[in-house]
Amino acid sequence: MTRQTIRVGIIGTGRISDLHAIEYIQNPFSQITALCDQDLNLAKARAEKWGCLDAAVTNDCEDILARDDVDLVELLLPHNLHLPIALKAIKAEKIVSLQKPMCINLEEADQLVAAAEASPKPFKVFENFIFHPPVMKAKALIDEGAIGEPLSIRIKSNSGKGKTAWEIPKSADAWRQDKETSGGGPLVFDDGHHKFALAWYFMGNPEEVHSFIHHTQRQDGGFLDAPSLISFRFRNGKIGNLEVVYSPELEISGYYYAQDDRVEITGTHGIIWINGGHGRIGETPPLVLYSKSNITEYRDVAMGWEQSFIQSTRHFLNVLKDGGEPMLTARQGRQVLKFALAAEESAHKGQSIRLQEELS
Ligand SMILES: NC(=O)c1ccc[n+]([C@@H]2O[C@H](COP(=O)([O-])OP(=O)(O)OC[C@H]3O[C@@H](n4cnc5c(N)ncnc54)[C@H](O)[C@@H]3O)[C@@H](O)[C@H]2O)c1
Repeated sequence: MTRQTIRVGIIGTGRISDLHAIEYIQNPFSQITALCDQDLNLAKARAEKWGCLDAAVTNDCEDILARDDVDLVELLLPHNLHLPIALKAIKAEKIVSLQKPMCINLEEADQLVAAAEASPKPFKVFENFIFHPPVMKAKALIDEGAIGEPLSIRIKSNSGKGKTAWEIPKSADAWRQDKETSGGGPLVFDDGHHKFALAWYFMGNPEEVHSFIHHTQRQDGGFLDAPSLISFRFRNGKIGNLEVVYSPELEISGYYYAQDDRVEITGTHGIIWINGGHGRIGETPPLVLYSKSNITEYRDVAMGWEQSFIQSTRHFLNVLKDGGEPMLTARQGRQVLKFALAAEESAHKGQSIRLQEELS
């Protein structure tokens, strides 16, 4: 290990941690030196599965924060723990990568932005969808002018069932069912963060958000906040929407969540379709461009969902090595959180939420 190596402690070794570990293990610039979960056996099992046999394993995050051989902490915890544990990590002068959403309301977000910006160490809100290779390619094409000026974004998220999908521990669902621990609904707020991040990434901050959020009872007694429709208006009359549908018998392929996500961005002279996010419906190409009367299919773009985690983590490690701003910064994380909270608030109040006054 060179002195340049970033030594990583993972706090929360639940469902999503497997995808965070991949790049930290394979990147020569990082090494996982400690794992923590309140369920000690789970942390031990992850250490074994990932081949991190020399890593320290604990059930108390304070142990990790006190360790000299941990430079960076990856926080993969229920949302109500994001603020308190991130603040402790910042106080302990660790580099922090905090899974989305950064916390559960804007008062918490303000505390976190202030602490992160006062910290001598970098802080990142981990959002992976903007690092999914088809999304990165779409952004590059749009920045090159492939569709002209983007005018509208449509995002469709289908949840269903999958023969090869991940098994989700009941405990990972339980805290998502409770607004106190999750901050909002499982599909529109929790998963919706990714979709609002995409809309923000391609179109900027919204000026107005309006939602219909319905609830569907699952067979196991839990609920999903679908079918739902969230529409947004951006500066200069640009528009977008997110449609969320849960179809209990819809077969979706993929190794992770049984969910398919598609994005359509229309510009002044072209359209881009991004097909596939968590999982896939059919064998559609990852990216399709319609421009100048021609359809171009980009079939060689990697579309495995794990790639979005790999690229997001690699981006942060590159920032730590070469300098620059992490994506998302604390302030950007707050903007996306605000977008997601506006969708919840609109449905709750039955009226649209104007965000314009805070854009300057
Ligand atoms: N980027 C994505 O696409 C994506 C996907 C899934 C989850 N997530 C995010 O990842 C985070 C974790 O989600 P998950 O699905 O892995 O949940 P999970 O419930 O499977 O994992 C959370 C883990 O935290 C542990 N934990 C709880 N309190 C703790 C404490 N005080 N100290 C130590 N460990 C503690 C739990 O035992 C559990 O193992 C959330 O922020 C969630 O939104 C992101």
